Amino acid sequence: MLAALCCLQGAAFAQGKKAATPALLMGAAWYPEQWPESRWNADLQLMEDAHLHVVRVGEFAWSTMEPEEGHYDLDWLERAVRLAEKHNIKVVIGTPTDAPPAWLTVAHPETLRVDASGRTAEHGSRRQFNYASPEYRKFCSGVAAQLARRFGHDPDVIGWQIGNEYTDESFDAATRRQFQEWLQRKYKTLDALNRDWATAYWSQTYDRWDEIPLPSGAGNPGLLLDHRRFVSDTWRDFQQVQIDVIRKYADPRQFITTNIGGLGWSDNWDHYEITRPLDLASWDDYVGEGHLDVARNAAMHDFARGWKRKNFWVMETQPGSVNWAPVNTTLDRGETRAMAWQAVGHGADAVLYWQWRDALNGQEQYHGAIAGPDGAPLPIYTEISRIGGEFDRAATALKGTTLTAQVALLLTYDSRWAIDFQPHNRNYDQLKVLLGYYRPLRDEQLTVDIVSAGAPLDSYKLVFAPSLNVISKDLAAHLLAYVQQGGHLVLGPRSGMKDEHNALNTQRQPGPLVAPLGGRVEQYYALDRAVPVSGTFGSGTASLWAEQLSTSAPDTSVLLRYGKSNGWLDGQPAMITRRAGKGVITYLGAVLDPGLMRKMVAWATSEAHVQAEFPQVPAGVEVCRRTTASHTVFVLINHGSAEAHVALPSAMSDVLHDGARVTSVDLNPQDVAVLQTEVNGGDR
Ligand code: GLA
Repeated sequence: MLAALCCLQGAAFAQGKKAATPALLMGAAWYPEQWPESRWNADLQLMEDAHLHVVRVGEFAWSTMEPEEGHYDLDWLERAVRLAEKHNIKVVIGTPTDAPPAWLTVAHPETLRVDASGRTAEHGSRRQFNYASPEYRKFCSGVAAQLARRFGHDPDVIGWQIGNEYTDESFDAATRRQFQEWLQRKYKTLDALNRDWATAYWSQTYDRWDEIPLPSGAGNPGLLLDHRRFVSDTWRDFQQVQIDVIRKYADPRQFITTNIGGLGWSDNWDHYEITRPLDLASWDDYVGEGHLDVARNAAMHDFARGWKRKNFWVMETQPGSVNWAPVNTTLDRGETRAMAWQAVGHGADAVLYWQWRDALNGQEQYHGAIAGPDGAPLPIYTEISRIGGEFDRAATALKGTTLTAQVALLLTYDSRWAIDFQPHNRNYDQLKVLLGYYRPLRDEQLTVDIVSAGAPLDSYKLVFAPSLNVISKDLAAHLLAYVQQGGHLVLGPRSGMKDEHNALNTQRQPGPLVAPLGGRVEQYYALDRAVPVSGTFGSGTASLWAEQLSTSAPDTSVLLRYGKSNGWLDGQPAMITRRAGKGVITYLGAVLDPGLMRKMVAWATSEAHVQAEFPQVPAGVEVCRRTTASHTVFVLINHGSAEAHVALPSAMSDVLHDGARVTSVDLNPQDVAVLQTEVNGGDR
């Protein structure tokens, strides 16, 4: 039955009938404005042959869309969309606001971005605009309105991308005034601001709002944190102008997203704030130099899924290689396929390659592409066609599925920024610390959500907060409610040091959670050498960071203690735990080595009764699980270098092999299996 459904879907495409948008899409960024129109059909035919069902167009085409101020030409785009339709290819239109045309910035230089050293950006690259400029927003709204009026009801246009990879803030005088006004709205009085930022320190006291600087380097931690929030709000407002105008004209079925840059783990704006008003989260997943770091990339997908706590798109990924890494190596044969399926396994419903074909000139001539400068397929085309065919076969099984996790990792931008402003140990890398928790969980094949600490937590049995530095009273109440209702919260080092103003909490760490924990941090130590640690579940070392803990309640237990170290830490608690309400609150004060971390995670999952989701698999095999109410789909990927035999917990349909019933699979290196459990007691 499964095979029959797949064939029907394929037949609809083959006969050129108008097919519904598949539940799983492969696609590419396509720039018709860069090529003679006579070439378009050949490109789209090659795409169709490779099972590409979506193109993203337009996001850098402003000078073609609006060649002169107020004179729009979108006929070419309409022709491109119609031609795509003939090839059963859906379209996502990018608003072109990441690359303003020369006439705009020449006539309106106030729309240009000024960098931290005071230098004004120039035309000739992209991202030269000031996102805070009301004048620039008017032009953005103008072009977005034209696009939405023209394509807002187009059946082949399925969505919108606003701008492209939001990046740098501006340091011009007008933006500084906006920041001061933003602060005035927030604090109402300078007395409140001076108190919360503790400005008596170094005579920072402000007597007038216009004295407050735009921080371009180090500064008062309260000022720095508020500036990041201002930047987030300003990007969100910039985006909202375009959302409003698109929504005015576009069908509700057309989604609105923006593509978030993948390398930007520690960005200057809050991804949760930016994605809140969007219909769909999407991100750009690049490896750059070297090869796929399986756990890191998986965590980035889970992070992206957590922005809206729903499935997402990979709006851009590399067809083999990039042009911006120190050494632009190419992914091994098969690695692109493994990477595409990893995205799907973690909740992507579409994977788009950047880009279809390189422009003949321009800054990215060396970037990986699917078609060469001659327009003919490059070697990677074969692998991408294979993935496309597999996506077609798996679309029905994956339709409506998503990931459900028993375990979550928490983060907030406030905490990330607060630590990054003052790392105290320059090697304290919050992403690496987070991966220290993530890897052992994934090694047990557990699904992991990475979500904002303020997200609803009641569905999780176990929650880790690796570096939750900023814990306000409200956040503490939210976390405590989770624990009291039966959850298990494990706070990691540096938790609860700061309040929402990035000021030190007057209680020691973890601040407002000291009382329920029945213990606290007496002192923290940045480490330059490993410290021995041992306790109930094993022994190992701590590095980078170690906190001397103490207990204040009789029922708080010590799980780990430090061995001989700097004298201060010797014999002192490193990890403590206590029951609170129906749940448990635990504090781990050190960054543990991977072996001890594995044991700590095993202890926590067993305490929290986290159930296994799949039996053990050979090293290198990644198991991802997507479910609906009716069935489960497992995506198995062999990232290892040896062939792997995986015994399945029950007979399943092998989706990529005509739905054959299998009880085990053999996976070559980089190989993938997509397996579907029975549907309501019967096969599909
Ligand atoms: C980013 C941009 C694209 C392109 C790629 C190249 O992701 O969004 O326009 O420049 O990088 O890797």
